[in-house]
Amino acid sequence: MSELSSEELINGLKDGWGELNHPSLVTPFVGQDAKQKMQIQQKTEEIRAFLDVVLGLEHRGFVLETGLGRGGTHLLWRKLFERVISIEHDYHSVAAFLFALEEPRNSTILWGSSINPSTVHKIETILAGQPLDVLFIDGNHDYEFVKQDFINYSPMVREGGIIAFHDTVSEHGPECFVDELRTGEGVERACQIVDIHSDDGPGISYYVVKGEGSP
Ligand SMILES: C[S@@+](CC[C@H](N)C(=O)[O-])C[C@H]1O[C@@H](n2cnc3c(N)ncnc32)[C@H](O)[C@@H]1O
Repeated sequence: MSELSSEELINGLKDGWGELNHPSLVTPFVGQDAKQKMQIQQKTEEIRAFLDVVLGLEHRGFVLETGLGRGGTHLLWRKLFERVISIEHDYHSVAAFLFALEEPRNSTILWGSSINPSTVHKIETILAGQPLDVLFIDGNHDYEFVKQDFINYSPMVREGGIIAFHDTVSEHGPECFVDELRTGEGVERACQIVDIHSDDGPGISYYVVKGEGSP
């Protein structure tokens, strides 16, 4: 696992990929092409701030990301976690990523919809009773999908682990669901949501999972 700082991790990503020439690292998603390059769909300031949070975890075993996209964030997680699992329902994205990935190392890519019970079962099988340290929800951004990803995978996150949502400014679904977690509406209890929102970024919101007895 890397002991690099968030700054070094981001810079390493830029150096490694000529495609990432936009200063914000937010790249357009321009169709499904087998030649597509790995790219990251994150705003630099936001993902850097979130990396700092992740780097503060005392243990970084498993991370689960719903929505591989072009794989940029998956590659960041690879430097930080013992094992990285991303779920992606688009076949071409999965194929292109696996084609470009030189070494599978600690990567697992599941092709399928994150809301399918069979996908949930596969994740349980991979984890074999071990908890997730981080859950990063960034698949389908419709409210029902965001909520279902949360329902499916949040119970797998350990106490002290992190549950994060991407696009909590730019997309109504994640924004709306995170607001429900914030207020406690329709969920067991309210969560102490932290927002990482830069000026024109899509937004990341997260909370640290607390045990049942904690305030
Ligand atoms: C915003 S992109 C992910 C970006 C990536 N996490 C990153 O940080 O670069 C969302 C991805 O989720 C995928 N997706 C949408 N619905 C999904 C579902 N139900 N299950 C799995 N993946 C899904 C889309 O095909 C798309 O590639």
